[in-house]
Amino acid sequence: MMPRRLLLIDCDTGVDDALAILYLAADEAVEILAVGTVDGNVAPELGAENSLRALEAAGRPSVPVAIGAGAPLLQESRHAEHFHGEDGLGDAHLAPAKSRPTQEGAVEQMVRLARAHPGEISLLAIGPLTNVALALMVEPRLPRLLAEVVIMGGAVACPGNQSPWAEFNIAHDPEAAEIVLRASWRRCTLVGLDVTGQAILEPADHQRLGGSAPAEFASRILQQQMGANRRFELCDPLAAAILLDPSLATYQELPVSVDLDGLHTRGATIADRRITLAPTAPETRPKVAIAMSVDAARFLFEFANRLGSSG
Ligand code: BDR
Ligand code: CA
Repeated sequence: MMPRRLLLIDCDTGVDDALAILYLAADEAVEILAVGTVDGNVAPELGAENSLRALEAAGRPSVPVAIGAGAPLLQESRHAEHFHGEDGLGDAHLAPAKSRPTQEGAVEQMVRLARAHPGEISLLAIGPLTNVALALMVEPRLPRLLAEVVIMGGAVACPGNQSPWAEFNIAHDPEAAEIVLRASWRRCTLVGLDVTGQAILEPADHQRLGGSAPAEFASRILQQQMGANRRFELCDPLAAAILLDPSLATYQELPVSVDLDGLHTRGATIADRRITLAPTAPETRPKVAIAMSVDAARFLFEFANRLGSSG
């Protein structure tokens, strides 16, 4: 039997985070070691409740869920209930989860697991990067202890969604994102709005979801957004899919920094496209694999397949 792929998810469960959990949990070859939650779409306590609900719907009720940072490193928190609903799951009024979060914090959990499985864990970060930045402070060897990190965040060559220049996960905690993007990971992949803008769930895709517990759950939490906008951008599920199958996207390998000072550009992800950098340039930093194009049709097919679609 093939060894299972070890995964740690850091998230702010919200609608698309929950869909990403369902997408990953549908894969028998994936072992979700744990989930950690961070302040973002909702407070981390509610994010943990929603992660447990998604894991239970997906048939993985024993995955531990730990609560992490309750606020960004420096700035005030601004949640996204206007988009994800007061309950973070499209105001679907779901039953409470049966399990409870663990006593351990999400940062401690991340460091403990990375040390216990050196070089083996893929980290999927689909919320603001506060927990990951804090874990880097606790354990500076984290970039070598993890196999890779795949981040949903940023808008490198396209407009932002939180401001003209900044994407939500980065804008929520720009200092944390800057700490993470300058670290020397074995491999770091950025799945930003450049590609998620192509991963759109249409009403017909939504209507076909059904016939299984995960599909019913997905259908319910999508109802509010599909009713309001007739479309839903599958940001976090696309990052999950790219983690499992990097051939879904093409990449540019460039250093990326986060603007921290701009009046209009704070939280923007700046890729350095210069071909030649002076070796001593202060901006020299490790390269990040930035997803620049995606096979959206293949992803959407896979999404429907994994969640359960009658069409
Ligand atoms: C990201 O922001 C959040 O609202 C979503 O869950 C996703 O992680 C998209 O910009
Ligand atoms: Ca998210």
